[in-house]
Amino acid sequence: MLNIKDLKASIEDKQIIKGLDLSINKGEVHALMGPNGSGKSTLSYVLSGKEGYEIDSGSVDFKGKNLLELDVDERSNEGLFLAFQYPMEIPGVQTSFFLKTAINAKRKYQGLEEIDALEFAKLVKSKAEELSISPDMLKRDLNVNYSGGEKKKQEILQMSLLNPEMAILDETDSGLDIDALKIVSEGVNKLRNENNSFLVITHYQRLLNYIKPDFVHIIADGKIVKSGNFSLALELEEKGYEEISKTA
Ligand SMILES: Nc1ncnc2c1ncn2[C@@H]1O[C@H](COP(=O)(O)OP(=O)(O)OP(=O)(O)O)[C@@H](O)[C@H]1O
Ligand SMILES: [Mg+2]
Repeated sequence: MLNIKDLKASIEDKQIIKGLDLSINKGEVHALMGPNGSGKSTLSYVLSGKEGYEIDSGSVDFKGKNLLELDVDERSNEGLFLAFQYPMEIPGVQTSFFLKTAINAKRKYQGLEEIDALEFAKLVKSKAEELSISPDMLKRDLNVNYSGGEKKKQEILQMSLLNPEMAILDETDSGLDIDALKIVSEGVNKLRNENNSFLVITHYQRLLNYIKPDFVHIIADGKIVKSGNFSLALELEEKGYEEISKTA
């Protein structure tokens, strides 16, 4: 699904990703953990094609295509989804309109007709209900004055409507209350199947109790320094990054 080889990437002439290798197969859930400033969000921005990031060297293959050559829309239409650590507020754009536009952009790319208004209303209502998002929220401008946790839930709603093949969740758990964490995790688990993959960026082992990862990676200073299974997250919780990095 996703194969990153010796990736080096910079922003404003400062290299942040410094030779990163990561391979994610169909049906797998990978967790990425690492100290503040180690390059987790930068990696997700680089993969999503955000402007301003320079690829210095290395390659990223997504479903057999060179991901780095695709523009932002193509990446999304090809099935890549990023839930941002800090979701953007878009004044003047109603949330439900935004969601419908996102669905239709993907459908157009797939050669399908626009979603029927009634079908969309039903779909969004049922998905929002699953995530305990009130219908009133969807009438408001996208993320504007949403609470931190509400923004994270809205990202997961968008994800479940788009049903991506590869989803990157950047600290989706940060700011969620205990109930919301369970609801959001259930949302992710419901989407999970043998044909899609997830990269879950988190600081807390707690999330991984709900979304069981197949692999856990530790990133430090722009590189994966250690990989393992779920037990690595437990070890990390116990020892901390500094101690673990010594044994890497
Ligand atoms: N536009 C920029 N200009 C200069 N430095 C930047 C820029 N964007 C990011 N950085 C730096 O890149 C490094 C990695 O940032 P990044 O946001 O990827 O960290 P992170 O691992 O996601 O951290 P956190 O756990 O705090 O979210 C940080 O030192 C950050 O200050
Ligand atoms: Mg980050």
